Amino acid sequence: MKICAIILSAGKSKRFNSDLPKFVHSISGKQLIDFNIEALEKNKNINQIKIITSKTNSHFIESKNKELFIQNPIDGTGGAIKQFYNSNKNFDYYLVLLADTPIFDYKIINNFLSDGIKSKVDISVLSQNANNPSGYGRIILNKDRLIKIVEESDCNADEKNVKLVNTGIFLISKKSIKNVFSLIKNKIKKEYYITDLIDISHKQNLKLKAYINDKSPILGVNNFKELNDLEKISQDIIKSKLINSGVKILHPETVYIETDVQISKDVIIEPNVVIKKGVKILKGTTIKSFSYLENCYVGKNCLIGPFARLRPEAILQDDVKIGNFVEIKNSKLASKVKVNHLSYLGDSTIGKNSNIGAGTITCNFDGKNKFHSKIGDNCFIGTNSSIIAPVNIGNNSYIAAGSVITKNVPKNYFSISRAKQKNLKNFKR
Ligand code: UD1
Ligand code: CA
Repeated sequence: MKICAIILSAGKSKRFNSDLPKFVHSISGKQLIDFNIEALEKNKNINQIKIITSKTNSHFIESKNKELFIQNPIDGTGGAIKQFYNSNKNFDYYLVLLADTPIFDYKIINNFLSDGIKSKVDISVLSQNANNPSGYGRIILNKDRLIKIVEESDCNADEKNVKLVNTGIFLISKKSIKNVFSLIKNKIKKEYYITDLIDISHKQNLKLKAYINDKSPILGVNNFKELNDLEKISQDIIKSKLINSGVKILHPETVYIETDVQISKDVIIEPNVVIKKGVKILKGTTIKSFSYLENCYVGKNCLIGPFARLRPEAILQDDVKIGNFVEIKNSKLASKVKVNHLSYLGDSTIGKNSNIGAGTITCNFDGKNKFHSKIGDNCFIGTNSSIIAPVNIGNNSYIAAGSVITKNVPKNYFSISRAKQKNLKNFKR
């Protein structure tokens, strides 16, 4: 059994008010099209994944390492399949997904595909009941038999009331896909519709099925309002999963967490926190309000924030404390390091138990290049110190407040570098 999965992404995104095609817009940090690519990659029965795109859209997809098929002209979802099939005829089944209709739960696709193959369908349509069916093709049944799909703009009054809708996902057999050559252009839109395959195939008595999805709804995106609706659903899925696994999220409706994060149980996330993709947080850690974390690692029992910013490649070992208005980037903080107030640590390594005083800045950039600062174990960096990289401060050293450190400091040393205070008498104002 040879199965080809196709994702349609050649549309012009006319209803979407953006210079970018809709499928490159993200939901919870992931491009719309990537949800479907990843869902398909999880299915072992699929032999090939192909993306149908246009000349203008193709450069947004080239980096995804998938085979592309360029649709030309852009003549509708039916036109896309017709052009593709013309040069890809050697599959037993074609599984069609839309780039603007992301699948959050790959199991829905697995079940849909295996049901279709088991029931030896000619066409199976992934359908669902919608409270608000507007914008979707209506699934028309006659005594439980699928007979046609009618697009919203072609619906009569009765058809408009039908709540069973087409998600856009089809499984089409070798036998029925040949009907793409019988499609005729829709009179209103002047495009070929994949949905018209149903009417044609019904008239040939082929085996058709409306497979009902009763799990989380599959929604398409044609405008920014629908993108926002999907974002809410995706956020609910991500946060519910974490809450069920033992993460305590306070006022979850105020917290934003992207896909591809790992958060252990007994982590506490306070209101108004943003956690972007690539973040890993181990158990017992608290992320306090208004903190913003991206692509970083936070060990066990850390206290982060409020108002902390952890940028990419911030690696914090266990029991680290990061306080308010502290930014960490590409830096490794060993266990029990404290950076409690108003600091920037970039391109640095900080040894265990060191205390970084308020206002400490690692000056990592000379306007052209970036340099590294190394601070050893058990150091005390006094308030308002500037550490001019590249520089190495040895273990157990003590830097006096207000110092500008430009040279290495050996271990166990005290270092002070600040202008001498002068007190001048008889000053009058
Ligand atoms: C389509 C379905 C509708 C379904 C809905 C689900 C048709 C005719 N209608 O409507 O029944 O309820 O999806 O979301 O199929 N595309 C191409 N080439 C084209 C035209 C479109 O690849 O020539 C791609 C688009 O990039 C998009 C997808 O196909 O990813 C769907 O196209 P769109 O125009 O958004 O279809 P809908 O009107 O939403
Ligand atoms: Ca759509």
